[in-house]
Amino acid sequence: MVPRWVKSTYYALLSPLMRLNAARHRAIPRLASDSNNLVHLGPGQEKYLDGWINVDANLISSKPDIWADLRFKLPFPDNSVDAIYSHHMIEHLPNLDFHFREMYRCLVPGGSIRVGGPHGDNAIQAMLEGQDDWFGNWPTHRSSIGGRFENFIFCKGEYLTHLSISLTTIS
Ligand SMILES: C[S@@+](CC[C@H](N)C(=O)[O-])C[C@H]1O[C@@H](n2cnc3c(N)ncnc32)[C@H](O)[C@@H]1O
Repeated sequence: MVPRWVKSTYYALLSPLMRLNAARHRAIPRLASDSNNLVHLGPGQEKYLDGWINVDANLISSKPDIWADLRFKLPFPDNSVDAIYSHHMIEHLPNLDFHFREMYRCLVPGGSIRVGGPHGDNAIQAMLEGQDDWFGNWPTHRSSIGGRFENFIFCKGEYLTHLSISLTTIS
């Protein structure tokens, strides 16, 4: 796992450039006028989707079609995108309210959003029921269920948000 300070430095140095790039894409969109515009946020290394516009900040581990910092305004004009999908990305964002407003701004009327990520409610349930084997032992080796629960929820300080029946921000 890349140390937190390396990521912080990467974002501190490059986020202004990513925001400029996003502004450029909002002004001059790379969208098809005659077909579905499908957007995949945070594909990472292995989940690049052909036929989708893949957006990511990481130029080392992923090959995004659009380079952007998803903590800020998305690189699409208002009412321009038909569907937005992300998987295990939003837990890295500090402000879900802003991010969902941004996705909604970009969607055409009747468009769809599908978001997946760590499920806080299920983790709490498993913790309360003492289901030790529900939790993995990553990123830190922890023998107690409380420690393993902490691994799941905070992931060594990487996760800023988790999914719940009602979306919950934890920092
Ligand atoms: C844990 S990986 C998930 C990859 C893939 N979606 C999957 O399900 O395996 C999180 C991805 O989100 C991206 N990401 C996290 N925070 C981001 C941000 N602020 N801006 C853009 N991309 C971000 C990371 O670069 C990484 O590619």
